Amino acid sequence: MRVLVIGSGAREHALVLALSHDPAVTALACAPGNAGTAALAESYGVDVTEPSALADLAVEWRADLVVVGPEMPLVAGAADAVREVGIACFGPSAEASRIEGSKAFAKDVMAAAGVPTAHAEIVDNPAKLDAALRRFGPTWVVKDDGLAAGKGVAVTDDLAAARAHAMTLLEDGHPVLLETFLDGSEASLFCLVDNTTVVPLLPAQDFKRVGDGDAGPNTGGMGAYAPLPWAPAGLVDEVVAKIVQPVVNELAARGRPFSGLLYAGLALTSSGPQVIEFNCRFGDPETQAVLALLRTPLTGLLLATATGTLAAHPAPEWSDGAAVTVVIAAEGYPGFARSGDVITGSESDGILHAGTRRREDGAIVSSGGRVLSVVGSGDTLPAAREEAYRKVALVHLAGSHHRTDIALRATKGEVTPL
Ligand code: AMP
Ligand code: GLY
Repeated sequence: MRVLVIGSGAREHALVLALSHDPAVTALACAPGNAGTAALAESYGVDVTEPSALADLAVEWRADLVVVGPEMPLVAGAADAVREVGIACFGPSAEASRIEGSKAFAKDVMAAAGVPTAHAEIVDNPAKLDAALRRFGPTWVVKDDGLAAGKGVAVTDDLAAARAHAMTLLEDGHPVLLETFLDGSEASLFCLVDNTTVVPLLPAQDFKRVGDGDAGPNTGGMGAYAPLPWAPAGLVDEVVAKIVQPVVNELAARGRPFSGLLYAGLALTSSGPQVIEFNCRFGDPETQAVLALLRTPLTGLLLATATGTLAAHPAPEWSDGAAVTVVIAAEGYPGFARSGDVITGSESDGILHAGTRRREDGAIVSSGGRVLSVVGSGDTLPAAREEAYRKVALVHLAGSHHRTDIALRATKGEVTPL
């Protein structure tokens, strides 16, 4: 089977790596890819936000299956365009991708499906902001209603900071969502969904803030681990039954069935799991940890999802043990990120590339905010963590930064569901 992966992050490198191990894959391409995917797959430059360009590439390359990594092309209609030319696609339609692309739409679907989530109000007029802020907080949760690459959210006890963040969004013409604050540990659950059937993968935890101890601004994700040693037995089944399946059923009932990866971002509160957000694609960096533990060939799972045959596919099998991902970010990230610096030490197994490119002289240089995802696996979470940080220490990139506490509290038994 010829498989074309769309995207250029470490998530796509992880997907390409898993697909490259699968004997069912006879040819592999990644567009646009990065210096890491280029070692495993053919690379094609393409504008990922242009659905017809992706469909044309899929036809020209004679793809049997297209796997769309990021949300932006999905929301723009990449999966629709690929399916229209008769090629199987892993990824939801533009209509179903609104579960991520519009937080207001997601809230509406959840309300109709009876799924627990934070109470929210949309403010689209600065004159109404102060009264709305008085109905929330502390703590205030202020979000951009549209796609914001994980960086559009402010969670703060400071009313002035909440107001300032909301005003910045409003001045840019973006409606603002105010939400009640959800307490409790966070978990990410990825589910394969083929319009009707839901197959959960291993639960994971992401570290969204830039600094150790969850200090500093939100990012796209600075690290992750899977599975969750502290999760109560039955958590995954409960989340599928009470949250994911009802949302999948609701989307199908609205004539917008979801096919692809539905990612539930959860807060495990004292009154049970509640949804922080849905995403319409694999999460980054959790995917790098989750796929490191997958033993079932990935292609079959993705193809069964894309062709509506998940119910007949054997359940995924997982390695025992754990995996930890640590993101190495460029100086300045999540603000303006410095680029063009030479990276050394990134050749080990398990070092996945994101913002990298190969210069004409052969050197690998930084070209984005999140530069590398370093994955360690082991029989236990502490062993996986040690392996990840051992490899982080091999990498040199001037000015780069990473968190030193990914999965640390979980290894000490300090994380509880509440
Ligand atoms: P989002 O972009 O909606 O995933 O939000 C990014 C991060 O902000 C989440 O991973 C949480 O850490 C935090 N967050 C978002 N919404 C809430 C909420 N209602 N209560 C508490 N934390 C939240
Ligand atoms: N890990 C967060 C995200 O992919 O949005």
